[in-house]
Amino acid sequence: MPKTIKIIGIGAGDPDHLTIQAVKALSQVDVVFLMDKGPAKEKLNALRKKICARHMGERAYRFVDAANPEREREGDYLAAVADLNARKQAVFERLIAAELRDGECGAFLVWGDPSLYDSTIRLVEAIAASGRHDLDWDVIPGITSVQALTARHRTTLNAIGRAVTITPGRRLAERFPDGVDSVVVMLDAENAFRRLREDDVDIYWGAYVGTPDEILIAGKLDDVAGEIERVRAEARAAHGWIMDSYLLRRPTVADKTSD
Ligand SMILES: C[S@@+](CC[C@H](N)C(=O)[O-])C[C@H]1O[C@@H](n2cnc3c(N)ncnc32)[C@H](O)[C@@H]1O
Repeated sequence: MPKTIKIIGIGAGDPDHLTIQAVKALSQVDVVFLMDKGPAKEKLNALRKKICARHMGERAYRFVDAANPEREREGDYLAAVADLNARKQAVFERLIAAELRDGECGAFLVWGDPSLYDSTIRLVEAIAASGRHDLDWDVIPGITSVQALTARHRTTLNAIGRAVTITPGRRLAERFPDGVDSVVVMLDAENAFRRLREDDVDIYWGAYVGTPDEILIAGKLDDVAGEIERVRAEARAAHGWIMDSYLLRRPTVADKTSD
C-alpha cells in the first residue's frame, strides 16, 4: 500500500481561512508533520494544532515534530537556499520513511498557500521522483497572505486590466516594473518600501493579518512610511518576530473593458 502525503494550505493566520476541501483532506490524515522554526514556531504551530483539534475531531492522529533546518545567513543567498533545501529534503524523507506506515496519510499544513514562497511542493516532488518510496501526493490550495491582506484592506490586487508583481523585499526596485501598477512585497526584513522612487504611491500594509494581533495601516506612502516603520519595529520588539507584507499601488487610468 502506498503512503500518501497531503500538502494542505491552511490560510494566513485565521483558522476560518481553511477551505472545505482542506477540512475534507484533514479527515483522512493520520500524521501531521510540524516543521516550523524560529521565534514564531510556537504561535504558528499552536494555530495548526487548533485547526486539527477543530476539524479532525475523534480521528486518531498524531503530530510529529521535526527539527527544521535553518538557512546559513552568511555568503551567497541562492547557494544557501540550495543547501537548506537539500537538508530539508533529507528531513522530509526521513519523516516519510520512519514516521509514516504503509497505507497511512501524512500532512504538511502549509502557511497560506503551498504555491507561494514555500518549498514543500518542490521537496515532496523530488522525494516522489527519487523512486525510493511508494508515494502518492496531493496539494490542497489555501488562502494566501496576499488575499488575506487585500481582503482586510477591502481593496483589489490589480488595477483594472493591469499586471501585478509579487516580490520578496530584497528584490524591490526603485521603480515599478514596466506595465505594472501593483507590487506585493513579502519577506521584507528591512522596510524596502523606503527604496521606492515613485511619486504618488498608495501602500496597504498588514502585520499578523488574520490573527488576533493583526495591525493594518494604509495611506499615501509618503504620509505613512514613517508610521509603518515605527509600528513595525514596536511590534517586532513586543512579539520577538514579525510577519508582514504590503501592496504598493500607483494610480492608473482605468481600462474600462476588463476587470
Ligand atoms: C515564507 S512566506 C509564505 C507565504 C505563504 N505561503 C502564503 O501563501 O502567504 C512568509 C511571508 O508571507 C507573508 N505573510 C504570511 N502570513 C502573513 C500574515 N498573516 N500577515 C502578513 N504577512 C504574512 C510575510 O511577508 C512573510 O514574510
